[in-house]
Amino acid sequence: MARTDILYIGTNTKMYMNIYQTVDFLTKLHELTKDISRDQIKLFVNPSYTALAAARKSVPKESITIGAQNMCWEKQGQFTGEISPLMLKEVGVEIVQIGHGERRTIFKETDEEENRKVLCALKHGLTPLLCIGETREQKEKKIADEILRIQLKIGLNQVTPEQSKKVLIAYEPLWAIGVEGTPASKEYADERHKVIKEALVEIFGKTYGKDIPVLYGGSVNNQNAAELISMPHIDGLYIGRSAWDAENFNKIIRLVLPIFIKRRKTRETGAML
Ligand code: PGA
Repeated sequence: MARTDILYIGTNTKMYMNIYQTVDFLTKLHELTKDISRDQIKLFVNPSYTALAAARKSVPKESITIGAQNMCWEKQGQFTGEISPLMLKEVGVEIVQIGHGERRTIFKETDEEENRKVLCALKHGLTPLLCIGETREQKEKKIADEILRIQLKIGLNQVTPEQSKKVLIAYEPLWAIGVEGTPASKEYADERHKVIKEALVEIFGKTYGKDIPVLYGGSVNNQNAAELISMPHIDGLYIGRSAWDAENFNKIIRLVLPIFIKRRKTRETGAML
Protein backbone atom coordinates (compact mmCIF):
# COMPACT_ATOMS: atom_id res chain seq x y z
CA MET A 1 0.00 0.00 0.00
CA ALA A 2 1.33 3.42 -0.94
CA ARG A 3 1.74 6.02 1.80
CA THR A 4 -0.53 8.33 -0.14
CA ASP A 5 -3.30 5.70 0.11
CA ILE A 6 -3.63 6.50 3.81
CA LEU A 7 -5.26 9.68 5.06
CA TYR A 8 -2.73 11.64 7.09
CA ILE A 9 -4.55 13.87 9.52
CA GLY A 10 -3.05 15.61 12.49
CA THR A 11 -2.90 18.62 14.72
CA ASN A 12 -0.30 20.88 16.25
CA THR A 13 -1.50 22.15 19.61
CA LYS A 14 1.02 25.05 19.47
CA MET A 15 1.64 26.69 22.89
CA TYR A 16 -1.86 26.18 24.23
CA MET A 17 -2.34 22.90 26.10
CA ASN A 18 -0.70 21.95 29.38
CA ILE A 19 -0.11 18.31 30.38
CA TYR A 20 -3.57 17.80 31.83
CA GLN A 21 -5.32 19.34 28.82
CA THR A 22 -3.20 17.34 26.37
CA VAL A 23 -3.92 14.03 28.09
CA ASP A 24 -7.61 14.84 28.33
CA PHE A 25 -7.73 15.76 24.63
CA LEU A 26 -5.87 12.61 23.55
CA THR A 27 -7.94 10.30 25.72
CA LYS A 28 -11.16 11.70 24.26
CA LEU A 29 -9.83 11.61 20.72
CA HIS A 30 -8.78 7.98 21.09
CA GLU A 31 -12.17 6.96 22.52
CA LEU A 32 -14.07 8.80 19.81
CA THR A 33 -12.04 7.42 16.91
CA LYS A 34 -11.06 3.93 18.04
CA ASP A 35 -13.57 2.24 15.72
CA ILE A 36 -11.87 3.74 12.65
CA SER A 37 -9.39 1.32 11.08
CA ARG A 38 -5.84 2.61 11.33
CA ASP A 39 -5.18 1.01 7.92
CA GLN A 40 -7.09 3.98 6.56
CA ILE A 41 -5.82 6.89 8.61
CA LYS A 42 -2.64 8.00 10.25
CA LEU A 43 -3.78 10.17 13.13
CA PHE A 44 -1.14 12.28 14.83
CA VAL A 45 -0.96 14.96 17.51
CA ASN A 46 1.99 17.28 18.17
CA PRO A 47 1.79 18.60 21.76
CA SER A 48 4.15 20.88 23.68
CA TYR A 49 7.46 19.38 24.82
CA THR A 50 6.45 19.20 28.48
CA ALA A 51 3.37 17.13 27.64
CA LEU A 52 5.08 14.64 25.30
CA ALA A 53 5.87 11.88 27.81
CA ALA A 54 2.41 11.93 29.38
CA ALA A 55 0.82 12.19 25.95
CA ARG A 56 2.59 9.06 24.75
CA LYS A 57 1.47 7.09 27.81
CA SER A 58 -2.14 8.25 27.60
CA VAL A 59 -3.20 6.44 24.40
CA PRO A 60 -2.00 3.41 22.40
CA LYS A 61 0.63 4.29 19.86
CA GLU A 62 -1.21 2.39 17.13
CA SER A 63 -4.14 4.74 17.68
CA ILE A 64 -2.46 8.15 17.79
CA THR A 65 1.10 8.94 16.77
CA ILE A 66 2.79 11.58 18.89
CA GLY A 67 4.93 14.25 17.29
CA ALA A 68 7.02 17.14 18.57
CA GLN A 69 6.70 20.72 17.37
CA ASN A 70 10.42 21.32 16.86
CA MET A 71 13.89 19.98 17.72
CA CYS A 72 17.60 20.78 17.56
CA TRP A 73 19.75 19.79 14.57
CA GLU A 74 22.28 18.10 16.81
CA LYS A 75 21.84 15.08 19.05
CA GLN A 76 23.74 16.64 21.97
CA GLY A 77 26.08 19.45 22.87
CA GLN A 78 26.32 23.03 24.02
CA PHE A 79 22.84 24.03 22.86
CA THR A 80 21.20 25.42 25.99
CA GLY A 81 17.45 25.34 25.85
CA GLU A 82 17.25 22.99 22.88
CA ILE A 83 15.75 19.49 22.65
CA SER A 84 17.62 16.61 21.04
CA PRO A 85 16.11 14.01 18.70
CA LEU A 86 17.31 11.36 21.15
CA MET A 87 15.32 13.01 23.94
CA LEU A 88 12.23 12.98 21.75
CA LYS A 89 12.74 9.32 20.95
CA GLU A 90 13.21 8.53 24.61
CA VAL A 91 9.64 9.64 25.31
CA GLY A 92 8.19 7.80 22.31
CA VAL A 93 7.92 10.62 19.79
CA GLU A 94 7.81 9.45 16.16
CA ILE A 95 7.15 12.59 14.12
CA VAL A 96 8.85 15.97 14.37
CA GLN A 97 7.42 19.10 12.83
CA ILE A 98 10.11 21.18 11.18
CA GLY A 99 9.86 24.76 9.90
CA HIS A 100 6.32 25.59 10.94
CA GLY A 101 5.37 29.05 9.63
CA GLU A 102 5.51 30.49 13.14
CA ARG A 103 9.07 29.19 13.56
CA ARG A 104 10.07 30.75 10.25
CA THR A 105 8.44 34.14 10.80
CA ILE A 106 8.63 34.75 14.57
CA PHE A 107 11.84 32.87 15.29
CA LYS A 108 13.47 33.65 11.92
CA GLU A 109 14.42 30.07 11.12
CA THR A 110 15.97 29.65 7.68
CA ASP A 111 15.68 26.93 5.05
CA GLU A 112 19.25 25.91 5.83
CA GLU A 113 18.37 25.37 9.50
CA GLU A 114 15.27 23.38 8.55
CA ASN A 115 17.49 21.25 6.33
CA ARG A 116 19.88 20.47 9.18
CA LYS A 117 16.91 19.47 11.33
CA VAL A 118 15.40 17.29 8.60
CA LEU A 119 18.70 15.45 8.13
CA CYS A 120 19.16 15.04 11.88
CA ALA A 121 15.61 13.75 12.35
CA LEU A 122 16.10 11.16 9.59
CA LYS A 123 19.47 10.11 10.96
CA HIS A 124 17.86 9.34 14.30
CA GLY A 125 14.83 7.54 12.95
CA LEU A 126 12.24 10.30 13.36
CA THR A 127 9.75 11.26 10.65
CA PRO A 128 10.27 14.90 9.68
CA LEU A 129 7.11 16.82 8.83
CA LEU A 130 8.58 19.68 6.84
CA CYS A 131 6.25 22.68 6.71
CA ILE A 132 6.51 25.04 3.78
CA GLY A 133 4.45 27.98 2.57
CA GLU A 134 4.63 31.41 1.04
CA THR A 135 3.92 34.73 2.79
CA ARG A 136 1.07 36.98 1.73
CA GLU A 137 3.53 39.31 0.07
CA GLN A 138 5.11 36.47 -1.90
CA LYS A 139 1.66 35.34 -2.99
CA GLU A 140 0.80 38.84 -4.16
CA LYS A 141 4.06 39.05 -6.12
CA LYS A 142 3.09 35.72 -7.74
CA ILE A 143 6.27 33.97 -6.62
CA ALA A 144 4.60 31.35 -4.41
CA ASP A 145 5.64 28.44 -6.62
CA GLU A 146 9.24 29.60 -6.76
CA ILE A 147 9.31 29.98 -2.95
CA LEU A 148 7.85 26.51 -2.42
CA ARG A 149 10.38 24.95 -4.78
CA ILE A 150 13.25 26.71 -2.97
CA GLN A 151 11.94 25.66 0.46
CA LEU A 152 11.77 22.06 -0.74
CA LYS A 153 15.10 22.03 -2.54
CA ILE A 154 16.99 23.52 0.39
CA GLY A 155 14.93 21.88 3.14
CA LEU A 156 15.42 18.43 1.61
CA ASN A 157 18.99 18.91 0.41
CA GLN A 158 21.01 15.68 0.75
CA VAL A 159 17.99 13.61 1.73
CA THR A 160 18.32 10.36 -0.22
CA PRO A 161 15.41 8.81 -2.17
CA GLU A 162 15.44 5.93 0.33
CA GLN A 163 15.17 8.36 3.26
CA SER A 164 12.35 10.22 1.51
CA LYS A 165 10.12 7.24 2.37
CA LYS A 166 9.90 8.73 5.86
CA VAL A 167 9.39 12.37 4.90
CA LEU A 168 6.06 14.20 5.22
CA ILE A 169 5.34 17.65 3.80
CA ALA A 170 2.76 20.16 5.00
CA TYR A 171 1.83 23.03 2.72
CA GLU A 172 0.76 25.84 5.01
CA PRO A 173 0.55 29.25 3.33
CA LEU A 174 1.50 31.74 6.03
CA TRP A 175 -1.44 34.01 5.19
CA ALA A 176 -3.81 31.13 5.89
CA ILE A 177 -2.52 30.16 9.35
CA GLY A 178 -4.10 31.11 12.67
CA VAL A 179 -6.74 33.56 13.88
CA GLU A 180 -5.70 36.22 11.38
CA GLY A 181 -5.55 33.73 8.52
CA THR A 182 -7.86 33.34 5.55
CA PRO A 183 -8.18 29.75 4.34
CA ALA A 184 -6.84 29.00 0.88
CA SER A 185 -9.48 28.08 -1.67
CA LYS A 186 -9.48 24.44 -2.67
CA GLU A 187 -8.35 25.35 -6.19
CA TYR A 188 -5.48 27.52 -4.98
CA ALA A 189 -4.33 24.88 -2.48
CA ASP A 190 -4.53 22.09 -5.05
CA GLU A 191 -2.49 24.06 -7.61
CA ARG A 192 0.27 24.58 -5.04
CA HIS A 193 0.14 20.91 -4.01
CA LYS A 194 0.61 19.97 -7.67
CA VAL A 195 3.71 22.17 -7.85
CA ILE A 196 5.02 20.60 -4.62
CA LYS A 197 4.43 17.09 -5.90
CA GLU A 198 6.19 17.88 -9.18
CA ALA A 199 9.17 19.29 -7.26
CA LEU A 200 9.31 16.15 -5.10
CA VAL A 201 9.42 13.98 -8.23
CA GLU A 202 12.17 16.21 -9.58
CA ILE A 203 14.16 15.81 -6.34
CA PHE A 204 13.62 12.11 -5.62
CA GLY A 205 12.50 10.60 -8.93
CA LYS A 206 9.01 9.37 -9.77
CA THR A 207 8.77 6.26 -7.60
CA TYR A 208 9.81 7.97 -4.39
CA GLY A 209 8.69 11.54 -5.07
CA LYS A 210 5.12 10.57 -5.91
CA ASP A 211 4.62 8.72 -2.66
CA ILE A 212 5.45 11.50 -0.22
CA PRO A 213 2.23 12.60 1.49
CA VAL A 214 1.58 16.34 1.15
CA LEU A 215 -0.84 17.70 3.75
CA TYR A 216 -2.68 21.01 3.59
CA GLY A 217 -2.80 23.26 6.66
CA GLY A 218 -4.04 26.76 7.39
CA SER A 219 -7.52 27.53 8.77
CA VAL A 220 -8.91 24.09 7.96
CA ASN A 221 -12.40 23.91 9.48
CA ASN A 222 -15.70 22.02 9.30
CA GLN A 223 -16.77 24.07 6.28
CA ASN A 224 -13.74 23.60 4.05
CA ALA A 225 -12.22 20.25 5.13
CA ALA A 226 -14.36 18.12 2.80
CA GLU A 227 -13.74 20.21 -0.31
CA LEU A 228 -10.02 20.38 0.38
CA ILE A 229 -9.66 16.62 0.73
CA SER A 230 -11.66 16.04 -2.45
CA MET A 231 -8.85 17.68 -4.45
CA PRO A 232 -6.55 15.29 -6.34
CA HIS A 233 -3.20 16.52 -4.98
CA ILE A 234 -4.12 16.93 -1.30
CA ASP A 235 -3.16 13.81 0.68
CA GLY A 236 -4.09 14.90 4.16
CA LEU A 237 -4.85 17.74 6.53
CA TYR A 238 -2.82 19.45 9.21
CA ILE A 239 -5.20 21.32 11.47
CA GLY A 240 -4.81 23.86 14.25
CA ARG A 241 -7.73 25.49 16.04
CA SER A 242 -10.54 23.36 14.59
CA ALA A 243 -8.95 20.17 15.87
CA TRP A 244 -8.35 21.21 19.48
CA ASP A 245 -11.75 20.06 20.57
CA ALA A 246 -11.69 16.25 20.32
CA GLU A 247 -15.34 16.05 19.34
CA ASN A 248 -14.92 18.50 16.56
CA PHE A 249 -11.72 16.83 15.35
CA ASN A 250 -13.59 13.53 15.29
CA LYS A 251 -16.34 15.19 13.22
CA ILE A 252 -13.83 16.47 10.70
CA ILE A 253 -12.14 13.06 10.46
CA ARG A 254 -15.48 11.36 9.77
CA LEU A 255 -16.39 14.04 7.25
CA VAL A 256 -13.23 13.70 5.19
CA LEU A 257 -12.40 9.99 5.45
CA PRO A 258 -15.19 8.68 3.15
CA ILE A 259 -14.31 11.33 0.57
CA PHE A 260 -10.66 10.34 0.71
CA ILE A 261 -11.50 6.63 0.38
CA LYS A 262 -13.78 7.30 -2.58
CA ARG A 263 -11.06 9.34 -4.25
CA ARG A 264 -8.56 6.52 -3.69
CA LYS A 265 -10.94 3.95 -5.21
CA THR A 266 -11.53 6.15 -8.25
CA ARG A 267 -7.77 6.47 -8.66
CA GLU A 268 -7.32 2.69 -8.40
CA THR A 269 -10.05 2.03 -10.95
CA GLY A 270 -8.50 4.63 -13.26
CA ALA A 271 -5.09 2.97 -12.94
CA MET A 272 -6.55 -0.47 -13.78
CA LEU A 273 -8.26 0.74 -16.99
P1 PGA B 1 -4.89 26.83 12.07
O1 PGA B 1 -3.39 26.40 12.30
O2 PGA B 1 -5.64 25.62 11.55
O3 PGA B 1 -5.38 27.26 13.40
O4 PGA B 1 -4.89 27.93 11.05
C1 PGA B 1 -2.73 25.63 11.34
C2 PGA B 1 -1.28 25.48 11.69
O5 PGA B 1 -0.66 26.43 12.17
O6 PGA B 1 -0.69 24.41 11.48
